[in-house]
Amino acid sequence: MRIRHRVFVEEQRVIPFTDVDDWDRHPDTIHVLAGRGSVAVGTVRLYRTDTVGRWKGDRLAVLSGHRAGIVGMRLVRFAVSTAAAAGGEVMDAFVQLQNVNFFERLGWEHAGAPVLYYGLPHQPMTIELSRARSLTESEIPDDACLRLPAARDTPSALLVTMG
Ligand SMILES: CC(C)(COP(=O)(O)OP(=O)(O)OC[C@H]1O[C@@H](n2cnc3c(N)ncnc32)[C@H](O)[C@@H]1OP(=O)(O)O)[C@@H](O)C(=O)NCCC(=O)NCCS
Repeated sequence: MRIRHRVFVEEQRVIPFTDVDDWDRHPDTIHVLAGRGSVAVGTVRLYRTDTVGRWKGDRLAVLSGHRAGIVGMRLVRFAVSTAAAAGGEVMDAFVQLQNVNFFERLGWEHAGAPVLYYGLPHQPMTIELSRARSLTESEIPDDACLRLPAARDTPSALLVTMG
């Protein structure tokens, strides 16, 4: 939450006051945290939006001092693999225009014209999860720690630690 606040509220100023919304309280929402060593440096959130395989990924954020180090790429691929492994068919995202190339390189496709989201133009993008490769052992860093939530009364969390 602190990473998201720092990036979306303080740095980008795209969301006023707080970016926390009802999806954060939803018991099935998956929060992914990326760490370098013991430092949390990035995050993404994913959740099911219907009962027939549609998922959404959002709140992708990497702290400014840790960008261009493939943390963002790994977070997106991890979110895609996680939704695919949970039986998802399609994942949607609203992508800030400057990040469209980044998502295209990861296999995402345009889904219509840009729309306003929090007053800023965002490109709707989508990826077919059945075609997305699942996360293989070799892609998980040696010191990775993947932790699935044990209890549903606390926010679910997946922790990915990268060397
Ligand atoms: C978008 C964001 C999550 C990307 O995270 P990141 O960790 O920097 O992502 P990656 O390192 O995987 O890739 C980012 C870019 O750095 C490049 N890169 C990665 N490693 C690199 C390296 N070692 N040397 C040079 N460039 C590198 C990638 O090719 C990519 O290029 P692109 O910007 O042209 O797409 C991050 O910039 C961010 O948090 N931005 C602010 C919030 C935001 O925009 N969120 C997404 C809303 S849609």
